[in-house]
Amino acid sequence: MQEKERAPSPISGESCLTLAEFGPVEIRLILDEALRLKGLQRTGVPFQPLRGKTLAMIFQKPSNRTRVSFEVGMYQLGGHALPLSPQEIQMGKRETTSDIGKTLARYADAIMARVFHHQEVEELAEAAGVPVINGLSDLHHPCQALADLLTIREELGGLEGVKITYVGDGNNVAHSLALGCALTETRLTIAHPEGHAPDAGIVKLAGELGATPTLTQDPREGVAGAQVVYTDVWTSMGQEDEADERKNRFAPYQVNEELMDHAASGAIFLHCLPAHRGEEVSAGVIDGPRSRVFDQAENRMHAQKALLHMLLG
Ligand code: CP
Ligand code: NVA
Repeated sequence: MQEKERAPSPISGESCLTLAEFGPVEIRLILDEALRLKGLQRTGVPFQPLRGKTLAMIFQKPSNRTRVSFEVGMYQLGGHALPLSPQEIQMGKRETTSDIGKTLARYADAIMARVFHHQEVEELAEAAGVPVINGLSDLHHPCQALADLLTIREELGGLEGVKITYVGDGNNVAHSLALGCALTETRLTIAHPEGHAPDAGIVKLAGELGATPTLTQDPREGVAGAQVVYTDVWTSMGQEDEADERKNRFAPYQVNEELMDHAASGAIFLHCLPAHRGEEVSAGVIDGPRSRVFDQAENRMHAQKALLHMLLG
């Protein structure tokens, strides 16, 4: 189908700071488009609707998947991506977040930003007036959740009614997964240590969007019947001072073969990566037959290509 024959994107010109900006129909359209673009790429059909467009990418924290998947994704769509390191941008130090947003919007068609404080992506979006994509903040990681949902849909043939259990820290990844599950009628349980529950406001928001995740402090009870078991690092970027204390507190929440045996038979394992074998996941699980973590990592690119095409389309 020629690009000009397609219906206009319902999210053209918007930002993606959390998944709550979108409704269930829009999330489904992004996932549909991601599958379509994945199919085109697999069959070698060029699709370059973003010719002449540039994405500025601000990184205040390290990255492998986000940096490479956005850069390669923009290239495949015919556009260009420009990575900016913390030393170059020095957000809030060399100049204000607002001035950075206003300046970058004069050169680039969209901005992707990985920041410490969620408020920084909000300030960028407010100032820039071009689409801003959150590439991870302390509270949200929406592009990751899109890739997670895409992977589950591919693996299980759909999302509605699927049971996912996230085991570990109630962090940015868990928050975006909660919003994504609520919008797609996917059932989510979060098994977390005491004091590491997801943010109460985001849990409430998930409820308003469609479904409140079930919270438990018992990992075995949490994974019972789960078709997908998901975990993330115990210490997120920016929390390094707490790493030792967290290792002790999170030890009973390791996803290992014994815990996977409590999930549904045939359950798959997901992890946003980077992973720490021997901490949040055993090597046997992440390197074993149930793991889909590299399909999930690949899907970051397909999901983000869909998002970029729909925001800039
Ligand atoms: N999952 C993820 O965001 O990976 P990076 O930190 O490597 O970008
Ligand atoms: N929760 C992790 C995710 C890394 C992709 C972090 O914020 O460091």
